[in-house]
Amino acid sequence: MAFRKIAVLTSGGDAPGMNAAIRSVVRTAAASDVETVGVRSGFRGLMDGDFVPLDVRSVGGIITRGGTMLGSARALEFKTDDGQVRAVHQLERAGVDGLIVIGGNGSHTGALAMHAAGLPTMGIASTIDNDLGGVDTSIGVDTALNTAVQLIDRIRDTASSHHRAFVVEVMGRRSGYIALMSGIAAGAELILTPEVPVDKDQATRALRAAYAAGKSHFVVVAAEGSPLKASELLDHLTTLPEFEARLSILGHLQRGGSPLVFDRLLATRTAAAAAAGLLEGKSGLMAGLIRGRISLIPIETAIAPVDKVTPELCALADVLAR
Ligand code: F6P
Repeated sequence: MAFRKIAVLTSGGDAPGMNAAIRSVVRTAAASDVETVGVRSGFRGLMDGDFVPLDVRSVGGIITRGGTMLGSARALEFKTDDGQVRAVHQLERAGVDGLIVIGGNGSHTGALAMHAAGLPTMGIASTIDNDLGGVDTSIGVDTALNTAVQLIDRIRDTASSHHRAFVVEVMGRRSGYIALMSGIAAGAELILTPEVPVDKDQATRALRAAYAAGKSHFVVVAAEGSPLKASELLDHLTTLPEFEARLSILGHLQRGGSPLVFDRLLATRTAAAAAAGLLEGKSGLMAGLIRGRISLIPIETAIAPVDKVTPELCALADVLAR
């Protein structure tokens, strides 16, 4: 099939590098004389027909910018048949014959629905949570981790000076990947994830052991979605009279900011692979870094449950926290 016009959208939580991916899609398509339209606000814009023409000049300079120039949204309505039918009609009306979805788990579930509806659709792995199956890492993970680690390093300086315990909450409602990896990289004393529950007593024992071993601080990195909430742990630690404790919530600081080189290159290369695959007639696949190479995998594999918070990494974090 000869493509004339494709659409690109960003969906779910934004990630540093999404703009680099949009730029790469537009320019890869243009190199084959295929037009691109951008869809504003993810699947919501798809249902509403909120499209904007993108040419090679209109994506100039965006490789350096965090966030997404197209905007993003979490559109629950797109999960319904009615929402998906509306989206297909909007694309037909606009003369679009293929779609590229840049996002994480939920976004790829939407991409799969469009593929099932008969529209040639490709995905690009992009989520700071790194919770897509089959890929080593996704666009935005490296930049978000670097941001989190820089911030935790700063907190550790002041924690040490005051001999304090700090609970630092990082992003990850369902995935403990950011907590685990930033915790290991920042030398945290304890890491809380949704995947491996830790209770207050375990945390107290770890705190006492850290000070008894001569540490001058106790830094806990807690994922937003860990069963023992950062604020709950803080409340508990403040009941222990011999220690001083503080809470710091990093929140959306981790999602913004200019993408680092790794994410710019990953975004550029995966987006080019997704666009080229679409124009070659492929559909229902996601582009990502797989065992060190840019490759395409079935979207079903990408949205299957993942286990990147492995027992080995958790054991390593424990050993290194001594
Ligand atoms: O995009 C993923 C993520 O950043 C998660 O780590 C976090 O739990 C969630 O999004 C926050 O979502 P929102 O920006 O909608 O509050």
